Amino acid sequence: MVTIQKYLSQNRRPFVEQLKSLVRFPSVSTQPEHRHDVLSCADWLARHFRTLGLDVKLYPTKGNPILVARTPPMRGPKVPSVLIYGHYDVQPPEPLELWKTSPFEPVERAGKLFGRGASDNKGQFFAHVKAVEAYLKTHTPLPVNVTFLIEGEEEVGSLNLMSFVKQRAKQLRADYIIVSDTSMFSKDHPTITYATRGIAALEVRVDGPSRDLHSGVFGGSVANPVMTLARLLAACVDANGHVVVPGFYDDVRPLEKWECEQFRGLPFNERAYARFLGVPSLVGEKGYTTLERRWARPTFEINGISGGYQGPGTKTIVPAWAGAKITCRLVPNQKPEAIAQLVTRHLRRVCPSSVRLTTTPGHHSHPFHESPRGRGAKAAAVALRKAFGSEPVFAREGGSLPILDVFKRHLRGEIILVGLGLPDDNWHSPNEKMDLANFHRGIAMSAELLRELGTAH
Ligand code: BES
Ligand code: MN
Repeated sequence: MVTIQKYLSQNRRPFVEQLKSLVRFPSVSTQPEHRHDVLSCADWLARHFRTLGLDVKLYPTKGNPILVARTPPMRGPKVPSVLIYGHYDVQPPEPLELWKTSPFEPVERAGKLFGRGASDNKGQFFAHVKAVEAYLKTHTPLPVNVTFLIEGEEEVGSLNLMSFVKQRAKQLRADYIIVSDTSMFSKDHPTITYATRGIAALEVRVDGPSRDLHSGVFGGSVANPVMTLARLLAACVDANGHVVVPGFYDDVRPLEKWECEQFRGLPFNERAYARFLGVPSLVGEKGYTTLERRWARPTFEINGISGGYQGPGTKTIVPAWAGAKITCRLVPNQKPEAIAQLVTRHLRRVCPSSVRLTTTPGHHSHPFHESPRGRGAKAAAVALRKAFGSEPVFAREGGSLPILDVFKRHLRGEIILVGLGLPDDNWHSPNEKMDLANFHRGIAMSAELLRELGTAH
């Protein structure tokens, strides 16, 4: 590992400069006007992988291209295969006025690289690319065969990747699947994540009168769609934070004892957490701790609501319609389709006949759970300990990675989630950043992990 370490320490600057180039692409998958930027980003990556000597294919899809890059095959019966997954698409940067520096002009400040996608997920998967580069450029035999699978639609639900993986399961099958698209519990707690929540998205619309009406002339005689929608939404969760949609919790697998203990052992300060989020106090489902609520309990969340007059001053109307975007986060063994149906049925049941209700299901992603006791997890613990100098912890995460469940069902290899993000990286928020110390440690960790996996077999 000496030569690899030397290579890594000598190339810290170019690695960061390359990451900056990657972050400069506004590869926002949810906004059609960025289609061209998404394609350019994929092209840049393809070229980058080629210069490192990997065999690269860019697969077009109905959406954004999927990149598959393979290291030159190492022969021998004992060489395990590793698939490394990441995504080059990013969330929209808006609201722009809250950014201290421009989201797609990455800037280094105090050891951090600021820019949309710097941490979610460009900086994280790029760390693995640089680790593989170190093997190749120093002519150190790679202990495993590596395939990178980098997609451009994670932030919009990974639908095209799902069919791609199902179709090409044989080619993509690997002994281990490494994903860095989660966070460490803290800077001092390198983390192996063994579960992520799923998601069931739903749009709801309430239509009332055929047009906005004068609220003085007609108000009081017809249902107000915004009020009706507010009631409908409020009828989904009770004052104790329990989702009251019948059947919602039926498939929830309770936390195991060791998990509750593990979570309780983590240094988590509720006050500091509330301060960090800018809320006066914390709330959530009664009977559960904050970490349990975030990681292991399902939620019903309103992501956006619209309807009626939003401009300055007053406009006295009964609005014609109101709408809401809802997502439920799901835990093992809830099924997104079933949950979307239960919520729809519940809304229909409580909706008065004075309005028309339309519901449209959105993307679905299954919750994910992997045994934290596999060989891969053990190898990850060794690699994290070496690179970060402290004892790794096991955690769940509240966010979703839609493709993980498909990997699990169709590729079978052990899935290892070793996030390089930090809790204050501002994912999906203004001023997203990647901690560069974490980036470099992540590269070293990846080099170690590949080596460990090569000997674990
Ligand atoms: N990297 C996140 C997933 C994540 C977030 C993992 C927080 C662990 C903690 C990913 O890019 C993401 O944001 N996914 C979306 C998926 C959705 C659009 C289907 C999410 O969780 O909202
Ligand atoms: Mn991500």
